[in-house]
Amino acid sequence: MRRVRIIGIGPGHPDQITAEAARAMTEVAYFLVPDKSADHAGTDGLLRAREEICRHHLPGAYRVVTVRDPERDRDDPSDYRRAVEEWHEARAAAYEQAMLENPGDVGFLVWGDPSLYDSTIRVVERVLARGNVSFDYDVIPGVSSLQLLAARHRLVLNDIGTSLTVTTGRRLPAEAAAGNDNLVVMLDGSLRCRTLPDPSAWHIWWGANLGSPEEALASGPLAEALNEITNTRAQVKATAGWIMDTYLLRRLPAT
Ligand SMILES: C[S@@+](CC[C@H](N)C(=O)[O-])C[C@H]1O[C@@H](n2cnc3c(N)ncnc32)[C@H](O)[C@@H]1O
Repeated sequence: MRRVRIIGIGPGHPDQITAEAARAMTEVAYFLVPDKSADHAGTDGLLRAREEICRHHLPGAYRVVTVRDPERDRDDPSDYRRAVEEWHEARAAAYEQAMLENPGDVGFLVWGDPSLYDSTIRVVERVLARGNVSFDYDVIPGVSSLQLLAARHRLVLNDIGTSLTVTTGRRLPAEAAAGNDNLVVMLDGSLRCRTLPDPSAWHIWWGANLGSPEEALASGPLAEALNEITNTRAQVKATAGWIMDTYLLRRLPAT
């Protein structure tokens, strides 16, 4: 049976990939890679990081089949879910075509862990549901940026006996207003924590480009750390050519 492997490759450094993932990488005929270059700037640095991981873990030449990423309608956030679903279907059609044209086992290299803010599993399920290619698929976990953030700051993400909310920059204001007081924030291109009504009520542990040579960390009371984070963020982006950051926000106990 043809196999599709959805492989978590960690958040950017060749050492942060599991032995299981490294082995799976050697077992596929080719990697199917969406070409996002038209989508957003700064992908070159990310591509280089992924190539470095491949060079490190694959003994010889490896094959990459690039699939042009369908256009995504970002202008209508009111129907965000529908826009995402249509985009998943278009991506599934593109993957299906590539799989019909290129026989053999397929590997998807997923940044971090495939279970967190990544659509590969959903899109592969759609390819299967379309019924034109048959295969079995598995998921190999990776180190998530969230885990690396915790490790770098030597943190336990949940406070004793409390919950952890994992959310996006877009959802942060609503989640904080709803009383969630221990949140990991991902996908936040504009540091939405700046907009929280009471910065002095929070502590932040922040990390950018974790695992890469330009990795940067900062932590402290939110009101005090914001300036440093804003400046460091700009520096990392200028040096690396890309920026991805994640942070833990924890509400301080009322005094
Ligand atoms: C599309 S999500 C993918 C998350 C990924 N599946 C994971 O497990 O880390 C991208 C977001 O993950 C976070 N992220 C990914 N890699 C990162 C890194 N090396 N350093 C800091 N944050 C990172 C950022 O919040 C970024 O906006």
